[in-house]
Amino acid sequence: MTFKQKLAKATSISAGKLPSSYQIVGDVLLIKLPKLKPQQKQKIGQVILQLLPYVRTVCEIKEVSGELREPTVSTIAGNGTATVHKENDVLYKIDVSKVMFSKGNLSERKRLLGKIKDGETIIDMFAGIGYFSLPIAKFTKAKEIISIEKNPTAYNFLTDNIALNKITNIIAIQGDCKIAARSFPAKANRILMGYFPGTEEFLGAALWMAKPGCIIHFHNIYPEKDLWKKPMSQIDEICSAFKKKYHIILRKKVKSFSPKKWHVVIDFSGMSLLTSR
Ligand SMILES: C[S@@+](CC[C@H](N)C(=O)[O-])C[C@H]1O[C@@H](n2cnc3c(N)ncnc32)[C@H](O)[C@@H]1O
Repeated sequence: MTFKQKLAKATSISAGKLPSSYQIVGDVLLIKLPKLKPQQKQKIGQVILQLLPYVRTVCEIKEVSGELREPTVSTIAGNGTATVHKENDVLYKIDVSKVMFSKGNLSERKRLLGKIKDGETIIDMFAGIGYFSLPIAKFTKAKEIISIEKNPTAYNFLTDNIALNKITNIIAIQGDCKIAARSFPAKANRILMGYFPGTEEFLGAALWMAKPGCIIHFHNIYPEKDLWKKPMSQIDEICSAFKKKYHIILRKKVKSFSPKKWHVVIDFSGMSLLTSR
């Protein structure tokens, strides 16, 4: 019997109304639910606690919104939304009611680890709680990782997580990466742009921070019909405006974002504005 069938049987809610997937972060389970009565939601939460004994709290997640990717989460069973999530031997302290956990990028996190060369200086422009920065610091010989995060709550978790994982080569900065970029001209061998939508607006800041030969990992969301013409022209436009040479290394669909829309990543090599002077 599937999880959904078990849930339907125990709650007497038709399987058609129940979601088949959920996300577990630490010991908190996040689930998207259709319109149901509060008592029905509580029942679903209670049944999940019985079915999955390692879950302490069940939360309904409605959306993750805004520039700072803040989640709308409500507890339907158990209590406590602060937890520690372990993934590939990295610990992430997080409160799922305050900050999103981007679990969908696991394959990208793994892919990146294989690319990093010893001694690199890496700038993570949208660091969150450390999704990319922490595994890089833990499993590669990067020289330093400059991790910029605008949301003060996410930044506080980032600094806690640096300590929790006993990491010494991450420099955490709280603020807007467009402004923070000014302090790091021609600094980076590699730049992570793990944010969307509208990532193209930050390409200028990334080029400013790029050393010659720097690799930029540019994430964004595009409708299927715009692939790959639109992202290519956005990269071309900004590099041309700054009279920079570049070449595309890889372009890849990371995951489906919504019907006919894709989260994609494009790796390209660009160079700093300063290098032309
Ligand atoms: C969706 S999370 C992504 C985390 C991680 N990079 C990943 O791809 O898995 C994006 C983060 O960027 C932060 N952010 C948004 N705008 C920013 C800006 N202008 N400067 C720095 N951080 C920003 C948000 O607060 C959020 O924590």
